Amino acid sequence: AFEQDLAGRHVVISAGGTREPLDPVRFLGNQSSGKQGYALARTAVARGARVTLVAANTALPDPAGATVVPVSTTEELREAMTGAASGADVVVMAAAVADFRPARVATGKIKKRDGVEPEPVVLERNPDILAGLAARHGGRAAVVVGFAAETEDALASGRAKLVRKGCDLLVVNEVGGGRAFGTEDNEAVVLDTRGGERHVPYGPKEDLADAVWDAVVAEPPRVEPA
Ligand code: C5P
Repeated sequence: AFEQDLAGRHVVISAGGTREPLDPVRFLGNQSSGKQGYALARTAVARGARVTLVAANTALPDPAGATVVPVSTTEELREAMTGAASGADVVVMAAAVADFRPARVATGKIKKRDGVEPEPVVLERNPDILAGLAARHGGRAAVVVGFAAETEDALASGRAKLVRKGCDLLVVNEVGGGRAFGTEDNEAVVLDTRGGERHVPYGPKEDLADAVWDAVVAEPPRVEPA
């Protein structure tokens, strides 16, 4: 049983992976299971928070006590997060967001035709939701937390990303070798803007989630937006 150290706080968490449609039946997607985001939601409820979970294409049981908002595309996730984050105390972007989307979505199913080469898929950039949420208001009240999966120089890349995205905490996973995506366990470092690092050893995603909430609780009080 945890201390109710998130009591009275509204936390908004994104989980899963966004999908970008190519046509009515096909999409570009990623391998994110949503398990880390769901572990964050369960542990936040256990620590007394009011929890909104924006879930992109997950197939996991709803965490008891959380409000779940299902979404699919990056634009849907952006809208749901932006809406839920206004007035929230903590915002955590644990979802794997598609960096690019097809510039054009076919209205009918793309057909193969004998002797005809397929059309190339032209991509355009998606907005960076985390950076947008972190920049929303200069004196924002919310603690904003991002995730980063890095393959090399995880700590240095993570530090640079923390600054670039403008968030308060960044959870850096070293990925590769079957770690992190879809697995039950995770290993990470939680970085803050004061040079602090919390190393979380390889273990259940709940343990990493609790380390994230410990770091959130330890963040200095924020300026209320004017
Ligand atoms: O830039 P990168 O994809 O490594 O950043 C990962 C972090 O940024 C995650 O917290 C992810 O949810 C968020 N993100 C986002 N919008 C994007 C891409 C990533 O919010 N378009």
